[in-house]
Amino acid sequence: MAQACCVAMISAGAMAAPRAAAAGVRGSAPASSCTLSFSGLRRVDVLSHGERLSGFSAVQHELSLCNGSANASRGIVTMVGTGKFFVGGNWKANGNKESVKKLVQELNDAKLEEDVDVVVAPPYIYLDSVLNTLTKRIEVSAQNSWVGKGGAFTGEISAEQLKDLGVEWVILGHSERRHVIGEKNEFIGKKAAYALSNGLKVMACVGELLEEREAGKTTEVVFEQLKAYADEVPSWKDVVIAYEPVWAIGTGKVASPQQAQEVHAEIRKWISDNVSAEASSQTRIIYGGSVNAANSSELAKQEDIDGFLVGGASLKGPDFAAICNSVTSKKVAA
Ligand code: PGA
Repeated sequence: MAQACCVAMISAGAMAAPRAAAAGVRGSAPASSCTLSFSGLRRVDVLSHGERLSGFSAVQHELSLCNGSANASRGIVTMVGTGKFFVGGNWKANGNKESVKKLVQELNDAKLEEDVDVVVAPPYIYLDSVLNTLTKRIEVSAQNSWVGKGGAFTGEISAEQLKDLGVEWVILGHSERRHVIGEKNEFIGKKAAYALSNGLKVMACVGELLEEREAGKTTEVVFEQLKAYADEVPSWKDVVIAYEPVWAIGTGKVASPQQAQEVHAEIRKWISDNVSAEASSQTRIIYGGSVNAANSSELAKQEDIDGFLVGGASLKGPDFAAICNSVTSKKVAA
């Protein structure tokens, strides 16, 4: 992946994942070096050496030139946030033993870029077999967890049990849990806090219904959902926010890159205003809703899109790998 570009590198550390680290995946490089392995990516339109970048203003960064031929008037790729690109695959209630085995094989065979954290979320009943057969390059998530300590809660799975199995992540607040099962903001916030307190990392989903968007209530709804998390979680260090407009999930109707970017920027600002500037720059904000191998590159180019949560397209190994590798579109000069 040759590139002649400037790379602005944040000096704060990356959120290195243990399984990924064990598999030899590199984290962020020292700020003073020039490297293709990095964490936190931002695109800017014009940059002169030493000039302030157009990314999130609270973030301090250093600038280093990869290559003397970099043209200051070109659009370039920069790194402003500290979060590494992140792609999650949500398998939902799909598959059987045979298809899960095939998908794991495809993922084990896939060539994944280094600069992306990759996590898959199989159904509960396949977690153990996936953990035992999937490459350690890819981390494993549950799709839900109980709100508190395990016990007499028929049909539920506790955070402690997930940890016991070796699961590292959990998806919470997914729109299907909110709108099909009826989970409420406050309950979801408590689930997130409990999962975090047991050492799970959380993909915290938010997103508006079509009628809420049409009524001009997108940010109001999303901010309420964010507040419910913020009211409960003591730290955002192990949280990735997934913005998933409900009208885009499983519909084939993807949000335009501009629509997604607009909400992602609002979310980042909300975190800055209501949590901290540090959390705002470090928290990955990923987009979900009909992401596929054909549309992920354009979405990935957006300044505040730090990755994806993928449903349908995560069931095909090669397509999912292509989505993970759309991280490269952040690296290519415009
Ligand atoms: P989709 O689902 O990619 O099939 O739209 C996304 C999700 O529900 O996380």
